[in-house]
Amino acid sequence: MGQMMWAGRFSKEVDSKVNAFNSSIAFDARMYKQDIAGSIAHATMLGERGIISMSDSLELIGGLKEILADIESGKLEFDPNAEDIHMFIEAELTKRLGDVGKRLHTSRSRNDQVALDIRLYLRDEIKEIKTLIKQLVETLCKIAAEHSETIMPGYTHLQRAQPITFGHHLMAYAQMLLRDIDRLNDTERRMNVCPLGSCALAGTTYDIDRERTSSLLGMRNPMANSLDGVSDRDFCIELASALAICMVHLSRFSEEIIMWCSWEFKFIELDDAFSTGSSIMPQKKNPDVTELIRGKTARVIGDNMTLLTMMKGLPLAYNKDMQEDKEAIFDAVDNIKLCLVTFIPMLDTMRVIKENMRAAAAKGFINATDCADYLVKKGMPFRTAYKITGGLVALCISKNTTLEELPIEEYKRQSELFGEDVYAAISLETCVKERKSFGGPSPESVLGQVKFVKEYLRDL
Ligand code: ARG
Repeated sequence: MGQMMWAGRFSKEVDSKVNAFNSSIAFDARMYKQDIAGSIAHATMLGERGIISMSDSLELIGGLKEILADIESGKLEFDPNAEDIHMFIEAELTKRLGDVGKRLHTSRSRNDQVALDIRLYLRDEIKEIKTLIKQLVETLCKIAAEHSETIMPGYTHLQRAQPITFGHHLMAYAQMLLRDIDRLNDTERRMNVCPLGSCALAGTTYDIDRERTSSLLGMRNPMANSLDGVSDRDFCIELASALAICMVHLSRFSEEIIMWCSWEFKFIELDDAFSTGSSIMPQKKNPDVTELIRGKTARVIGDNMTLLTMMKGLPLAYNKDMQEDKEAIFDAVDNIKLCLVTFIPMLDTMRVIKENMRAAAAKGFINATDCADYLVKKGMPFRTAYKITGGLVALCISKNTTLEELPIEEYKRQSELFGEDVYAAISLETCVKERKSFGGPSPESVLGQVKFVKEYLRDL
């Protein structure tokens, strides 16, 4: 490594262990494009304001564009000994342009530079993640429309509760994912403001134009306080939190898929291409993808926790602790993308075993509420109807039968209000079809939900 940038103040070389410890290039090099874009905006503004000459400004911009092209073509490799991506690009620029290169950092600091780069980088990542979540929701809409009439048991406490449709179950996840997209939109809006010009912490004596750099970078406005501009990492925490919430949704869904794949449920079967075998047990077909998503949720939650904990005791403004932000937030972003990319085709190719869902729904007295509602509709108060139905269920259990098969005499013995029409009223098909209250599981309602979600997606 050549002389450090700050060599003037120091009488000794920094210990090589400190250099290695301090360096972030191994993980911040991925922001090269954003770093160069920020520098181009800065150099443009410096030239326009006459803080540097127009010709220097143009030379800097040309040099930065060349560096970008050379990195992309593989001609220029990152120097692992550089302190960070910002130092690397500036040093490279100076190597190429000489003294002109040294003018770029006028009225700028790595503190506002890094705050900008992460924002620009994450802004792009959010777009990608949103596109993936949208694809997932579209896939759910497709499968839900195919299964608007597929009856399955709905559970509470993991006990069979009331009949729903598979389409209804899937659309519940679609709603959660729409909120995830909403949260990302909010995060993006708050993130897309420009810290450039905050400089080290106290702004600058140069007559800079912060509006100009902000708009050149497609940001909403320059951040209004220079101390905040370099100190703020809320946007990383907010994104990590939005991603952690989304991962929790994927994880709950994964958990259900894992259960549904078991022989105890066998509601679905994953495609061979999205399952794995065992090295010893020849019969095994494991839902590894979903288990890994459940597992990776832990690390994304951890990333969020890392960021919160890292920031909680820091005085304003920049502190080196903040260099730790990148590995955490990049890990969250990388992992959610990996999960989504695999989860979508896995869902798209899974086989739904309707008969098993139907058979499970036929057990467990999940039409008991409907039996009570039958009496209520004939004028009985709900609590009385509830008690009578409870007695009928107990009777069925003692006779090892179901409400559907219980003879009408037994019904009548409990209440004169029962007639032959009770069997139609408690058939699973009726139970589901009649649950057409807004948001309910009826085929009609599910198709309505699919339509609504598709329209909502169009506007996002
Ligand atoms: N690599 C540093 C980081 O990621 C860049 C900012 C350094 N600023 C400083 N004053 N040392 O946080």
